[in-house]
Amino acid sequence: MKPSSFIKAGLFLTVSGLVAGCASAPDYSGDTDSRWADFKSWTKITEGRTGTGDPTGLVSGVHKGREGYRDVYVNDVGLATNQGTAPYKYPVGSVIVKEQFDDLAAFKAQKPTDLTIMVKLRDSATPDAKNWGWAAGYDGKLEETNAFCSGCHSVAAKDDFVFTNEDFLKKFH
Ligand code: HEC
Repeated sequence: MKPSSFIKAGLFLTVSGLVAGCASAPDYSGDTDSRWADFKSWTKITEGRTGTGDPTGLVSGVHKGREGYRDVYVNDVGLATNQGTAPYKYPVGSVIVKEQFDDLAAFKAQKPTDLTIMVKLRDSATPDAKNWGWAAGYDGKLEETNAFCSGCHSVAAKDDFVFTNEDFLKKFH
């Protein structure tokens, strides 16, 4: 290797090492579940609101905790329900994605650290956690049962297990 290419290679390794070392934003370009692959083009229902704190008193350490910031996106199938009024009953095919930021700085820089996703898979006469699938991460796998997620979201059972709807946003944000 010529000395110049050696230096270039060294520089490349140093720079890529630095990038990998930072808490870099998740890559949304990878191959993932088509149900949420393009969520960035959906309606951001938290647009212009401050999605932070712990309005329900339930967030505690999850969803980046009390200091965390959150943006929520809803696809076209679920949008009218989400922006409507109670009782909220989401059509099958509704997908809700929450982007999570560690703190205000990360939020301002739009550098999220995590994603959580809910997909309405089936319907029933009364709200049932089993109607929803749950996934953690853009590349996450949809799980039909996740007691951790659905257990806590059961607090919002009467709103079809979704906390962030128009009433919630008006009340808290
Ligand atoms: C300890 C309680 C708790 C757990 C566990 C939890 N969540 Fe949540 N989740 C919430 C609360 C509360 C909100 C409302 C947002 C807020 O307070 O900013 C929320 C919001 C969401 C949203 C946005 C839609 C909505 O309901 O507001 C999605 C999507 C979501 N969670 C997915 C998940 C997934 C997937 C898991 C499991 C990996 C999970 N959650 C685990 C409490 C929880």
